[in-house]
Amino acid sequence: MSHPTAVDELKNKLRDKLLGRDFLAISDFTEEELMDLIYFAIELKKMQKEGIPHRYLEGKTLAMIFEKSSTRTRVSFETGMYQLGGMAQFLNSNDLQLGNGETIADTARVLSRYVDAIMIRTFGHEIVEEMAEYASVPVINGLTDSAHPCQVLTDLMTIYEKKGSFDNLKFAYIGDGNNMSNSLLMGCAIMGIDCYVASPKGYEVNERVISEAMERAKASGSIVKQLNDPFEAAKDADIIYTDVWASMGFEDEMEVRQKAFQNYQVNEELVKVAKPDYVFMHCLPARRNEEVTDGVIDSENSVVFDQAENRLHAQKAVLVSIVE
Ligand code: CP
Ligand code: NVA
Repeated sequence: MSHPTAVDELKNKLRDKLLGRDFLAISDFTEEELMDLIYFAIELKKMQKEGIPHRYLEGKTLAMIFEKSSTRTRVSFETGMYQLGGMAQFLNSNDLQLGNGETIADTARVLSRYVDAIMIRTFGHEIVEEMAEYASVPVINGLTDSAHPCQVLTDLMTIYEKKGSFDNLKFAYIGDGNNMSNSLLMGCAIMGIDCYVASPKGYEVNERVISEAMERAKASGSIVKQLNDPFEAAKDADIIYTDVWASMGFEDEMEVRQKAFQNYQVNEELVKVAKPDYVFMHCLPARRNEEVTDGVIDSENSVVFDQAENRLHAQKAVLVSIVE
């Protein structure tokens, strides 16, 4: 695959299928499309490491609107566009007229006259959908309250690199039924990974998301299960994943959540029941010694910084595939 012709074939196949498409939810894509994006991301990673130029988006521009904080999403998109020969603009929503009441629709129409793609990180998922409806350029979801597709494509890429395939894997997500669990469940279901989620009562994954994931799992021959017992989920797991107990926008619930989640910490006792070669994953940022102990996140099983790095490569694969 590292032969340039093979990379170009893969790029052309992806662009034939995805050019002009939005990247709003992982469920909008087929198993084959996600697999090709992962193969392409792995090739782009190799090219980057070997210093092989890949300026596929020469002169193209990405607008990045942030209504919430970010380290990884901001820096990986900005760096990715630069490496592809284009550039990215960081737009804090408070500094835009959006913050003064200009509508999403008008913002989408105006930005589409200047840039080749828009990435937005915001609260309600309907905001991203509205942006996509009115923009004439592709829109990328950089995280909403209910989904984080860029992170999940990256996580699938990381699992593929670490485990060599998606066959016969048990994935355990321990914690909040949030944007990460929603997208992970769907991503695993599409790729045929058995997915077990353990959350405290009242913080489970939304039933609509579970049933949609179950539908996709039927097609790929995998299992989706919502549980309350973290040990049942983690038993013999190949991957253990967790995320913060209070996501951005839910900070005022922190105290109540700390109580509700106290038995859901990923710690040395919990990971003992997983397979010896399990990998620990977290989208980051982590609240160390809250949802995960230092002992686990800093252990040899932890791949959290490979995940963080792969945001760069996976998003470059998406950008090259969708930006005209
Ligand atoms: N994982 C992730 O999206 O990180 P940031 O919030 O730093 O972008
Ligand atoms: N669930 C977290 C993910 C951060 C990348 C949040 O939304 O804050």
